Amino acid sequence: MSDTTFILNGKETPFAPGQTILDAARDAGVVIPTLCYLKGAAPTGACRVCLVEVTGARSLVASCSTPVTPGMEVFTQSAKVLRSRKLVVELLLASGKHDCIVCEANGNCRLQDLAYACRITEMKFSPSEETYPVEDVNPFIVRDFNRCILCGRCVQACNEVVVNRAISFGYRGSKSKIVTGGDLPYNESECVFCGQCIEVCPVGALTEKKAKGMGRPWETEKIRTTCPYCGVGCQQLLHVKEGRIAKVTAVEDAQPNQGRLCVKGRFGYDFIYSEDRLKTPLIRQNGKFRESSWDEALDLVASKFKDIIVKHGPDAIAGVSCARSLNEDSYQMQKFFRAVLGTNNIDHCART
Ligand code: SF4
Ligand code: SF4
Ligand code: SF4
Ligand code: FES
Repeated sequence: MSDTTFILNGKETPFAPGQTILDAARDAGVVIPTLCYLKGAAPTGACRVCLVEVTGARSLVASCSTPVTPGMEVFTQSAKVLRSRKLVVELLLASGKHDCIVCEANGNCRLQDLAYACRITEMKFSPSEETYPVEDVNPFIVRDFNRCILCGRCVQACNEVVVNRAISFGYRGSKSKIVTGGDLPYNESECVFCGQCIEVCPVGALTEKKAKGMGRPWETEKIRTTCPYCGVGCQQLLHVKEGRIAKVTAVEDAQPNQGRLCVKGRFGYDFIYSEDRLKTPLIRQNGKFRESSWDEALDLVASKFKDIIVKHGPDAIAGVSCARSLNEDSYQMQKFFRAVLGTNNIDHCART
C-alpha cells in the first residue's frame, strides 16, 4: 500500500494529498450522494447525507469534510451507511412541508431524488408544522422556508461564491432560519438579486417567481447561449417551453462566469416579449416618431454629423459609449470619433 492510496469499497484507490473522501471517491467514479456540499466553498458537514463507514472510526463520517489518509478503509454502500442515509432523508422530509406535487422544484429537487433513491415509500415521521409565511413581495425570488432543509448552500453561495454577504443563519435550535440583516424581506435587505441562492438551493425553498407555471423541468429544452447584456459574455442556459423562456440559469463550470449570473442575466429577459420593444429605427418628424429603415436612419445621422462639422467644427460633437459593450465595439467607437469625425470628445458611461 502506497502513501497515496486508500481502500475504497475493497479496492485500492489513489488520492491526492488533502483530498476529502468525497472528492477522491468522485475521481474514482464512485457516487456518494450529497445535499449541503457546494463545490468551491468550505465544507460544512451540515446535512449528513454523505456519511460513509471508515474502519476503526467510532461512528460514520461525513465524506465531504473528512480528508483521506493513506491506507484508510472506506465503505460507501455498507448496510450501516444505507440505513443511516435513509434515516437522514426521512428526517429531512419531516423537517417541513414537502408536498412535491405542488412544489415548483418538483423534478429538480435533490431531496426528492434522494427519497426515491433510498426507496422511501411513506413519511416515517410526522412533518413539522408549517410556520413561515411564503415571502414573494419582491419581483424575482419566492422564499418558502417551510421547504428549507437548512443545508446552508444559499448562505455559502451568497457569502463565498458571489460575495454579496446578504444572508446568514439566524435564530437558534428549532427556530433556525436563513435571514437577511434584520430578518427583513429580500427587497429591503442588502440582497442584489443575483439569484445565486436559487441556483444552489437543492429543494423548493428558493425559486424563480417568474418561472412559476411556465414549465416543469422535464418539459423545457435547455439551450446554451451567451448573455446579451454586456461584454463579460456569461454562459447561460435558457429553459424554453414551447418557444418561450421559462427561466435562465448559469452554465456550471463554464468560463467566464463559472456558474454565476447577475440580476440582468438571470432575470432580465422580459424585454424579449415586451410590446414596447423597438425593432426598427424611429425618426422624429414634426414632433412625432415614424418607423424607418436602418439605411435611412444611418444616412440621416451621417448627414447631421456632416452639417454640424461644417458649421461648428468636429469638437461640437461628443460620443458616450456603453462601458458594458464589447471591447471591440468601444474601440471602434473611439476610432470612429477620433479618426473619422476628427474629435477627441469620446468617453464611456462608467464615469457616470
Ligand atoms: S422541496 Fe423537494 S421534496 Fe420538498 S416538496 Fe419540493 S420537490 Fe418535494
Ligand atoms: S439573490 Fe444573490 S445577493 Fe440576494 S441573497 Fe441570493 S445570493 Fe445573496
Ligand atoms: S434556502 Fe435552500 S439552500 Fe438555503 S438553507 Fe434552505 S434549503 Fe438550503
Ligand atoms: S454533503 Fe456532506 S454533510 Fe452534507
